[in-house]
Amino acid sequence: MSVVETAPLVGAGIDRVDGALKTAGAAAYPSDVNVPGQVYGALVQSTVASGRIRSVDTLAAEAAPGVLRVITHHVTPRLPDGPMTALGASPPAPLQDDRILHHGQHVAMVVAETPEEAAAAARMVAVEYAADDALTGLGDARAELVENPWGLDSDRGSVAEALATADVKVSATYTTPDNTNNPLGLFATVAVWEGGKLTVHDTTQWPSMARATFAKVFGLPETSVRVLAPYVGGAFGNGLRVWPHVILTVLAARLVKRPVKVVLTRPQMFTSIGHRPSSVQHLTLGADRSGTLTAVEHRATSPVAMEDDDYEPVAASSAVSYACANVLTRDTQARLHIPDPTSMRAPAEAQGNFALESALDELAVALRLDPVELRLRNYAENHPGNGLPWTSKALKECYLAGAERFGWSRRDPEPRSMRDGDWLVGYGMAGVTYPWYAQPCNARATVRRDGSAFVRSAATDIGTGTYTVMTQVSADTLGIPLGRVRFDLGDSDMPAAPQAGGSGLTGALATAVRDACERVVQQVLDLVREDGESPLRGCRREEVTVVDGRLHRRDRPAEGESYADVLDRHGKEELTADGTSTPADPSTLGMAPAGAFGAKFVEVRVDADLGVVRVARVVSAIDGGRILNEKTARSQIIGGTVGGIGQALFEETATDRTGRIANATLGDYLVPVNADVGDMDVVFVGEPDRATPAGTKGVGEIGLVGIAAAVANAVHHATGKRVRSLPITLDDLL
Ligand code: MOS
Repeated sequence: MSVVETAPLVGAGIDRVDGALKTAGAAAYPSDVNVPGQVYGALVQSTVASGRIRSVDTLAAEAAPGVLRVITHHVTPRLPDGPMTALGASPPAPLQDDRILHHGQHVAMVVAETPEEAAAAARMVAVEYAADDALTGLGDARAELVENPWGLDSDRGSVAEALATADVKVSATYTTPDNTNNPLGLFATVAVWEGGKLTVHDTTQWPSMARATFAKVFGLPETSVRVLAPYVGGAFGNGLRVWPHVILTVLAARLVKRPVKVVLTRPQMFTSIGHRPSSVQHLTLGADRSGTLTAVEHRATSPVAMEDDDYEPVAASSAVSYACANVLTRDTQARLHIPDPTSMRAPAEAQGNFALESALDELAVALRLDPVELRLRNYAENHPGNGLPWTSKALKECYLAGAERFGWSRRDPEPRSMRDGDWLVGYGMAGVTYPWYAQPCNARATVRRDGSAFVRSAATDIGTGTYTVMTQVSADTLGIPLGRVRFDLGDSDMPAAPQAGGSGLTGALATAVRDACERVVQQVLDLVREDGESPLRGCRREEVTVVDGRLHRRDRPAEGESYADVLDRHGKEELTADGTSTPADPSTLGMAPAGAFGAKFVEVRVDADLGVVRVARVVSAIDGGRILNEKTARSQIIGGTVGGIGQALFEETATDRTGRIANATLGDYLVPVNADVGDMDVVFVGEPDRATPAGTKGVGEIGLVGIAAAVANAVHHATGKRVRSLPITLDDLL
């Protein structure tokens, strides 16, 4: 159904509709959910990374106070794996045999009357292992290598020939460490079986997928499963899968015939819900004297867990970020005995962009060319792979607006040339070309006799502002005041929605919501088509405007009536319509679908004697297409920027030689705190994208991307030292 385009680029920056609930503690995150009669599960995890369980002694645990059941692989029924999704399979079902594939793998669950009793008894489960030699290092030559399973490697022109004749070459290896998602909300699951029906409250970014998974694993029709996640408590990709502990919680509830609640501990958050995989990236650039790129070669290796199919195309974006005739990208994965890597805000892009945009900075230095100018000289007006025009691209405006806001012209190009007392001052920048991602989506809209509206979809709001933005979109489209519209989500019984992920939900959901709302308006017009009492009789949609709950003729505003009048006269309690969004098929567009673009400008201060690095200022210039709510979109960019500062300076999951994560607490795994975050400025540029009716491109992830490279480039400018390994710590600079 066509959509009437009326909204400007930047929508009103209204406050979060769920803000008061959240600040008052009235929004129940999954860990806050309690149901009558619930008991508690506690996990027992492997203390070796590879091998077999020789024996499990559960006698002491079973005799401990309050214990109802100890579940091990000996008593777990054979369970099928979850369904394939757009993101691959869910991890294998838990406790299926005696094999150990990573340190921290669940080997038992204890169910008890209280959380304390469950945790205490879990410590009494005695497990003996026959440990094998574990493969835990990315460079381990024994590891099986998996070639790019998605066919996303690029190979065009001849990199070898171009490099042989390049005037200037830059070739370097960049490394990024494992990073761990650390939403404040501990992941939690409450599973309830009633009759043959299953209800699961869960920390998930994707209720529709979770429902499909429970249905498949437990052999139920999807209509017998309900997944609830109205509030998520933060998730950065770790809520995109149904993890083994969630399956175990559902299984436990079935076995003990009571609702079971499991809340992961903070250390378990490091082993049980995915993490950003480390990478080793070899990058070679060739250019002529003028700074025109003649070759880009990007080879990346990342780890994948033993029986998992998580895949991150780390090098892929290097093939489409700049105009270059000769490009080779290769992604390879090494199978290791590690906890599952999985998406973490801007998966693949965050790692790959660090290498590409650092290498470009090295090239700018070699050419004595301004880093912004180098990027402008290699600007990809069209998609560099297929030559098609982008559906929208304002990256040039990002560079220019960002440089202007930042005061880039004040930069003395000479490294170590800018100083403020004891502090070396550095300016660095990076560009970002973020991939397009879209999934089908559904929504349902209802207008009631009292003139209020109720719109819903099985999507989630992981803190991004989905509730708020979709309330706005619904109110705009229906022409009903914001305060009279309620948008609901987080319930798999609602129309199916894709994940809050891949920066794709806002575009998909806004389109479906507008479609549903438009169809309700159409229903009103259908109702009065031959209604002699209606001033709107016979009107076509394009002849009608809706404002303040009243539909009127566009050319004669005095002629109209309210939703309430129409419903009342026709004796209807409500009108309901379903809307859908189907992603544009790129092959029929004649254009290259564009994700968001961005330019990041960073000022760092480096203590000349101590090597301490501070990020003083960040300017992010973003082309996110239409911005539906400036306030929540800006918050996304700022939140992503803080994540980027974490990636650049702090975050590193440390695994010891036994495969055990050695810093699995928020005391030891460093993340930026307020004092680590300087002034952050965000500017939105561009225009509504042509590929989605909503015109949005998604801004959930791009905030993070480019920050690490811009920080590293600024550190080089400040100190003259090139750091190619994240995080950048003071020992790199002394
Ligand atoms: Mo995101 S990593 O797509 O939740």
